Amino acid sequence: MSRTFAMIKPDAVERAISGKIIAKIEEAGFNIVAMKKVQLSLADAQAFYAVHKERPFFGELTEFMSRSPIIALAMEKPDAVAAWRKLMGATNPAEAEPGTIRKEFALSIGENAVHGSDSDENAAIEISFFFNHFEQV
Ligand code: CMP
Repeated sequence: MSRTFAMIKPDAVERAISGKIIAKIEEAGFNIVAMKKVQLSLADAQAFYAVHKERPFFGELTEFMSRSPIIALAMEKPDAVAAWRKLMGATNPAEAEPGTIRKEFALSIGENAVHGSDSDENAAIEISFFFNHFEQV
């Protein structure tokens, strides 16, 4: 069993579709081991996305991620990182496969409804950014 980290981003929480996204997560067989709704400050978003700080979209990304609440989830499934990336679909919704969350719900490459870890190592880092050990069941 392995874990990954997911976020439901401000665009999706604002549109009140977080329940639909969580339903898809559960229907796909993920076990949610931690979940909370939080408002990131700009500094929080800059820290979370520090690996992207040299990218041209860093300012846009961190302002977007701190404009309204997000839902953070830690979830478990065999090969969880790859399984969640498959269910999310491509970063750019124009390239996302039918049936994926981003194909159905993302507005643009920036406001793309959900985030997912890209490796087991980053999943552990991202889960511990949001959850301490007793918040994970
Ligand atoms: P995420 O999986 O959260 O990781 C980094 C995020 O940067 C990505 O999803 C996108 O939301 C965002 N991103 C990537 N490329 C661009 C881009 N060209 N313009 C704006 N945002 C982007």
